Amino acid sequence: MSGPRLASLAGRPVTIGGLGSYLPGRVLTNEDLAAVLNTSDAWITQRTGIKQRRVAESGASSSDLGIAAARAALSDSGLSPDEIGLVITATISPDRIMPATASRVAYECGCTNAGACDVSAGCTGFVYALSMAAGMVAAGLHDHVLVVGAEVISRVLDWEDRSTAVLFGDGAGAVVVSPVPEAVMTGGRGSGGILGFDLGSDGSGEEILMIPAGGSRLPASCATVEARQHYMQMNGREVYKFAVQVVARSAGRVLEKCGLSVSDVDLFVPHQANLRIIEKAIKKLGIHEDRVYTNLEKYGNTSCASIPLCLTEARAEGRLKNGDLVLLMGFGAGLSWGACLLEWGCGRGAVDERG
Ligand code: UT7
Repeated sequence: MSGPRLASLAGRPVTIGGLGSYLPGRVLTNEDLAAVLNTSDAWITQRTGIKQRRVAESGASSSDLGIAAARAALSDSGLSPDEIGLVITATISPDRIMPATASRVAYECGCTNAGACDVSAGCTGFVYALSMAAGMVAAGLHDHVLVVGAEVISRVLDWEDRSTAVLFGDGAGAVVVSPVPEAVMTGGRGSGGILGFDLGSDGSGEEILMIPAGGSRLPASCATVEARQHYMQMNGREVYKFAVQVVARSAGRVLEKCGLSVSDVDLFVPHQANLRIIEKAIKKLGIHEDRVYTNLEKYGNTSCASIPLCLTEARAEGRLKNGDLVLLMGFGAGLSWGACLLEWGCGRGAVDERG
């Protein structure tokens, strides 16, 4: 391997050292939805690319799914749970407003030496949490941080609202962020490592996608329940326009920050909201569809879980090789967005293969 070490992230090099995911077994197809809502498989497929989604069992919460994904990522990393210094859970469907969903995830996973907190940044939450983990590990504040994207969005959807109910699904994915092992530090491409981020937010769009009630702005009351204000509400057309613009812009920015270009990207992993958004954005960016990973036809929009779910499947399918340049792109409520550029080289596996 040759070439300069690529890093816009200062401090020691950090990488994704473990990866895992969890999906509930229950499948809800477009036909199932068409039986109870004024919608059709044709409309959902044509407008979104989604064919089915997973739905958690009644009683299962986001932490339950997150715990399963986190255990898989921990096992993949080869670390013992007590080596984790911090657990961050990104979610739009937390177990409760307080305490943090991450506290239960950390407890149930045996992360006895870890702090725990949640990140709320709409569907961009996973990329935000990853940036915090990467910064902390790079700075030496922690050696290993567990980042979990976990959603049981089916609990915050209005099942009478066809404009949102057909889009989302439940699931969880997790990564362990660790220093790049010394054995694979070649000082050039192929070392593996998180290279940089581009994060942004535009609060003028806060009402375009929200759960209006249940917080301090509009506390829960009989009136908020009657008005169905504890469910997600979205202006789909506005989110669509925002997403197409921001994906191309933010992805371009992170590439520029790291001194790379679109032609260097081996795999683009966008948030899985809508196939049309992805198709339009990659056309703007100039990335060929062969280099784009999608699985939303099977799982719908799993919000903070969508990117780690994609990474897990992409690796299992052999689409992530050590040294590949991977571009992650999240966007969602806030409005918020976040891009991350990384060179794939996953922990123990990377050492075994190269050592
Ligand atoms: O993680 C980020 C979160 N969200 C997103 O990324 C969503 C972004 N937005 C979108 O993906 C798209 O805007 C949607 C898929 C939500 C909607 O697609 P669209 O092409 O923008 O449709 P539209 O909202 O303009 O609605 C077109 C028509 C409307 O009927 P009229 O007014 O033309 O008679 C809707 O009432 O489609 C109707 N419609 C539906 N029809 C059948 C809306 N939802 C449905 C449905 N089934 N499920």
